[in-house]
Amino acid sequence: MKETILVTGGAGYIGSHIVVELARAGYAPVVLDNFANSTPAVMSRLQALAGRPVPLVTADVRDAVALRSAFHDHPIAAVVHCAGLKAVGEAEGRPLAYYDVNVGGAIALAEVMGEAGVATLVFSSSATVYGQPDDLPVTEDAALRPHNVYGRTKRVVEDFLRDLAHANANWRIAILRYFNPAGAHSSGMLGEASRGRPNNLVPLLCKIAAGELAEVAIYGGDWPTPDGTGIRDYLHVQDLAEGHVAALSYLAAATGAITLNLGAGSGHSVLEVIAAFEASCGRKITRVMSPRRPGDVACYYADPARAEAILDWRAKRDLGTICADAWRWQKNGGRY
Ligand SMILES: NC(=O)c1ccc[n+]([C@@H]2O[C@H](COP(=O)([O-])OP(=O)(O)OC[C@H]3O[C@@H](n4cnc5c(N)ncnc54)[C@H](O)[C@@H]3O)[C@@H](O)[C@H]2O)c1
Repeated sequence: MKETILVTGGAGYIGSHIVVELARAGYAPVVLDNFANSTPAVMSRLQALAGRPVPLVTADVRDAVALRSAFHDHPIAAVVHCAGLKAVGEAEGRPLAYYDVNVGGAIALAEVMGEAGVATLVFSSSATVYGQPDDLPVTEDAALRPHNVYGRTKRVVEDFLRDLAHANANWRIAILRYFNPAGAHSSGMLGEASRGRPNNLVPLLCKIAAGELAEVAIYGGDWPTPDGTGIRDYLHVQDLAEGHVAALSYLAAATGAITLNLGAGSGHSVLEVIAAFEASCGRKITRVMSPRRPGDVACYYADPARAEAILDWRAKRDLGTICADAWRWQKNGGRY
């Protein structure tokens, strides 16, 4: 058995997939979550897929007292920090809450890790930190110009983690910039359990195909792309989870802070995703054209070469697999 890994936000969409991949790789994951955007019902699925008990710490990541207890009660060797608020639109109206949870949570965690002598951290950042890229594919050296509150909270945490590693050579930190995570666990037992109307395209298509929502709005059919719709880099959530396992094994033999894109390295337009989803579910998706939204960009996709070289990781699952797995999760109920 390898080390014990604390996964903050481990009950959430991405964190739950990371927990399962960690267990598959021989680690002992421990979940910390306050269920702000998830439910304890995920835990029994995690235990079943992990094939081992997965301890749960029900706590807010900003609560230093609760964090100290978690480090006292479990032999934690490293942390994967996924806990945070992620609704880009909501963040514009609630900047204080977003800075408090996303930035305050990371600071509380780093403080308690320092006290506990735990110096290995993998952080969930986002390609949102780039804003409108000048060049494609987007490399890690691109300018950071996040054009929303959510992206700025991620940039602040990134800066602070790099400063921490600069000030103290004990830290081993991987900052992972996710592009567009999508899909669900191939078992159909884990997936994105959106509260209310989903914000992301694939969960929205699931709800439409299931008859729970009527139609998808396509924001802009006049972008400078081959079919006029926006292009994004969709990354299967299991590929993303495997990237975290690879990052932890890299950090076992490295110090300092490293920043890596996790993306598939190619883009798909909204219309391509809809067509792939229709092929997976065998149903027609009703769509309506809407005007572009302020702040949206035409096209972005990752240059994942650095992650490939350093982690020996690459996305293996294609858009068809993303859609098929998401639809399987939806057919199983799409919730916990
Ligand atoms: N899903 C995406 O498209 C995407 C893209 C890039 C980056 N990210 C980042 O990845 C991480 C995980 O995202 P996700 O999609 O799994 O979101 P999610 O909402 O499904 O998971 C986040 C988890 O954190 C928990 N949480 C929130 N506030 C907390 C707090 N104060 N204390 C303890 N737990 C708390 C929630 O209950 C939830 O279980 C987030 O940091 C997010 O910003 C997500």
